[in-house]
Amino acid sequence: MSAPKFGYVLLLIVLINISNNGVDAFHKVFKKLQSKSTSLESVSPLHRTAYHFQPPRHWINDPNAPMLYKGVYHLFYQYNPKGAVWGNIVWAHSVSKDLINWEALEPAIYPSKWFDINGTWSGSATHVPGKGPVILYTGITENQTQIQNYAIPQDLSDPYLKTWIKPDDNPIVKPDNGENGSAFRDPTTAWFNKKDGYWRMLVGSKRKNRGIAYMYKSRDFKKWVKSKRPIHSRKKTGMWECPDFFPVSVTDKKNGLDFSYDGPNAKHVLKVSLDLTRYEYYTLGTYDTKKDRYRPDGYTPDGWDGLRFDYGNYYASKTFFDDKTNRRILWGWANESDTVQDDTVKGWAGIQLIPRTILLDSSGKQLVFWPIEEIESLRGKNVQMTNQKMEMGQRFEVQGITPAQVDVDVTFNVGNLEKAEKFDESFATKPLELCNLKGSNVNGGVGPFGLITLATSDLEEYTPVFFRVFKDAASNKPKVLMCSDAKPSSLKKDTGTDAKERMYKPSFAGFVDVGLLDGKISLRSLIDHSVVESFGAKGKTVITSRVYPTKAVGEKAHLFVFNNGSQPVTVESLNAWNMQKPLKMNQGAK
Ligand code: FRU
Repeated sequence: MSAPKFGYVLLLIVLINISNNGVDAFHKVFKKLQSKSTSLESVSPLHRTAYHFQPPRHWINDPNAPMLYKGVYHLFYQYNPKGAVWGNIVWAHSVSKDLINWEALEPAIYPSKWFDINGTWSGSATHVPGKGPVILYTGITENQTQIQNYAIPQDLSDPYLKTWIKPDDNPIVKPDNGENGSAFRDPTTAWFNKKDGYWRMLVGSKRKNRGIAYMYKSRDFKKWVKSKRPIHSRKKTGMWECPDFFPVSVTDKKNGLDFSYDGPNAKHVLKVSLDLTRYEYYTLGTYDTKKDRYRPDGYTPDGWDGLRFDYGNYYASKTFFDDKTNRRILWGWANESDTVQDDTVKGWAGIQLIPRTILLDSSGKQLVFWPIEEIESLRGKNVQMTNQKMEMGQRFEVQGITPAQVDVDVTFNVGNLEKAEKFDESFATKPLELCNLKGSNVNGGVGPFGLITLATSDLEEYTPVFFRVFKDAASNKPKVLMCSDAKPSSLKKDTGTDAKERMYKPSFAGFVDVGLLDGKISLRSLIDHSVVESFGAKGKTVITSRVYPTKAVGEKAHLFVFNNGSQPVTVESLNAWNMQKPLKMNQGAK
């Protein structure tokens, strides 16, 4: 390798290590562990979640083809039936009537034909009038090429859609000369354009280091032709996995829109999962259905500094439109950040996060995310706190619940912002750096304040989720930083040279676009043993952390509110509920 090239590769490696989400790009292959199965009896209950979606054992990744069919919700997901690391991927299939209780069916799609013999990777479902739901998915061929296939239900009268057929006229899309056959995957749900009678769908890809979402068109859902232009692409963003493209209403603050909506008062969202950083970015923009062009609004950067669905451990997400309740619902996957060795010992890896509704924020400049209301049916015992003033250095325990498994929703009031620190513009696109510099224990003016989750009573282990408010001279508005910090979460070490032995304890951060005119800011966290999903300011900024305390587990975990800023902060109201386990979580899975 010549010297400049070597330097470039080195730089790239350094860049990736700095900016990615604590996980390796694409799925690391551990050949020996791939088929190291764990019996159901020996699965470790420690750190398993209670109310998040999990199969009883082994590895899961992306949610696939979520949909509602004849009153039944379907969730397929990338699953390794043989081990707790990525590999042997099939489409596992679970069904639910309430998005809370799940029953497992046999895998719907698994490698069996030349067009998917080396892998049945991610994809989506589309309701095609007259045909029922059609799944588009990525198959890995005999010679390791990524192509797009379709599968159809055997029996449309079966609401459980138990059996899927992969017709022999597959594939529907192969990479052409210009496309990269090893980076060409994850077809989206298709949308129908009434104006020209064509369906359209996207496939994620890259050319050199340019991320691309190619667009394909079809009249009959079988013969697909590539559009002249990709719907969007962006240099230096690397592979675009799991694209998602859908409309949101500008005026209707309650309901979502169907994929094929083509009326007034809508904006479109293009989300891509960036393999290089393992974060999910989105732009809001205008989709001109006549010219077939998508243009991002340009309010926020289109790329690595752009808006994210979640600023933490959240990846390969996918939405569907629930036409029973008119909601756009988002599923997303969180991988483990425990050591691979421990994943193998405990016998499972990966969870799906609580489904979230998506709406356009009233500013029109970002989306807001909120846990589906069904989750509230699991709320049990409730404790409250009101008008609790916290001086600098004070923390109060939320008592009377079991904080390893709760839903907690708190509204803080910071009063005025006189004491807020001045915002240093050089951090404008670097919330994480700021968070690493000013952690939960670094005293400030207004904040840090927030929740201390999954903590031991003496804070030997804890995962703080908190805000810190700055004064931004440039905008004359407060600049609110939100952090979720796994660094102090576990006594387990995060060092080690071997990926199998290394545990990730990252801190995650994002800014929250709020004016704080009334001094109020809310924070809701769904805490479930090894996951903390936090929604800042009613879902404007969301951060998910996976953590593995050694002492703050089960009955021994504590929950606090805290303030480490010189400005007193009041807990105006806090509600915390113990969360019950659903009666059925993948009942029937073997
Ligand atoms: C995202 C992803 C997809 C691929 C699948 C394979 O996590 O890499 O791009 O289809 O997982 O399991």
